[in-house]
Amino acid sequence: RAEVQAKSLALSEVMTKAGEYYKQQLRHAPNAIAYLKKRGLTGEIAARFALGFAPDSWDGLRSVYPDYSASELVEAGLVIDKSDEEGAGRKRYDRFRDRVMFPIRNTKGQIIGFGGRIMEQGEPKYLNSPETPLFQKGFELYGLFEARQAIRDAGYVLVTEGYMDVVALAQMGFPQAVATLGTACTPTHVQKLLRQTDHVIFSFDGDAAGRRAARRALEACLPHANDDKFIKFLFLPPEHDPDSYIREFGADAFEQQVRDAMPLSQFFMREVIGVNDLNSAEGRAKTQFDARPLLQAMQASGLRLQIVRNLAQQTMTAPAEIETMFELSQPVAR
Ligand code: GTP
Ligand code: MN
Ligand code: MN
Ligand code: MN
Ligand code: MN
Repeated sequence: RAEVQAKSLALSEVMTKAGEYYKQQLRHAPNAIAYLKKRGLTGEIAARFALGFAPDSWDGLRSVYPDYSASELVEAGLVIDKSDEEGAGRKRYDRFRDRVMFPIRNTKGQIIGFGGRIMEQGEPKYLNSPETPLFQKGFELYGLFEARQAIRDAGYVLVTEGYMDVVALAQMGFPQAVATLGTACTPTHVQKLLRQTDHVIFSFDGDAAGRRAARRALEACLPHANDDKFIKFLFLPPEHDPDSYIREFGADAFEQQVRDAMPLSQFFMREVIGVNDLNSAEGRAKTQFDARPLLQAMQASGLRLQIVRNLAQQTMTAPAEIETMFELSQPVAR
């Protein structure tokens, strides 16, 4: 255990040092500065998120880690080691090269990973740190450290898909935004968010991937949804994400979108009805079939009862019949 702690500490120091290095490098990278400016970011916001730049070099990190062969650099995901591979020409090299760097911090403010964006067209658009003992993607949310006070002040958190969404929203007056890290929103993410606030608004991209992400987020929320939580979903036009939307239409239009966000119960019904025809027995039965696992994922609560009643009404069934058929435990008497 002591060994694990010592290791984590060592990794944490390595990450901090790398963050300082990338931040320092940004000052000497006019093209990266121009890129951030072009995306509408001020120096103040770049500093707030400790944005940096990884120069176009195979071993840039050598200048801050004289012992470039240290195993911690590989364990931290900063250096790739190919020495075990047959015929590998270059054996060790920096993972992040020629990319704008977004440090990912834990709630204590320590850097645990990075996301690096390419500035031109190219693949991958974002390169993320691999999972390490410090960094688990299903657990961490980009921007949570920076947003914590703003979440308290606003009384809600905005959950987005991307680094740029978080930074752009903060720039445009919505510092209460975080992002999942290129992964689906997990129940652990939801739990973590609900520890900060009782009001969560998901704002994913308007494209098909974003709509799928919203569905996954709905599923992740169900075990935690109850009567004193407000969970909502904001749907942007298909061609937009929060960053592009707020830049094109402005903060007031985005604020209106936040006000109009769809409550979980409504999104739930929209999802289970889907393309089913409620005017046919088959369509009503299929709607119930699709609702079943979702309702079973919820705890007994007034909210679940409301959804059951709505479903019952729309599918011409008695609420008690649904509860029996789905084997839902009865709400605790209050
Ligand atoms: P911009 O194009 O800079 O505005 O980024 P975006 O956040 O709008 O990108 P997009 O909607 O395509 O992707 C959302 C998130 O998914 C990103 O912020 C990344 O976390 C992740 N992501 C996107 N592209 C890649 C990729 O090529 N590889 C990996 N690993 N993650 C990616
Ligand atoms: Mn509230
Ligand atoms: Mn997208
Ligand atoms: Mn974007
Ligand atoms: Mn996007």
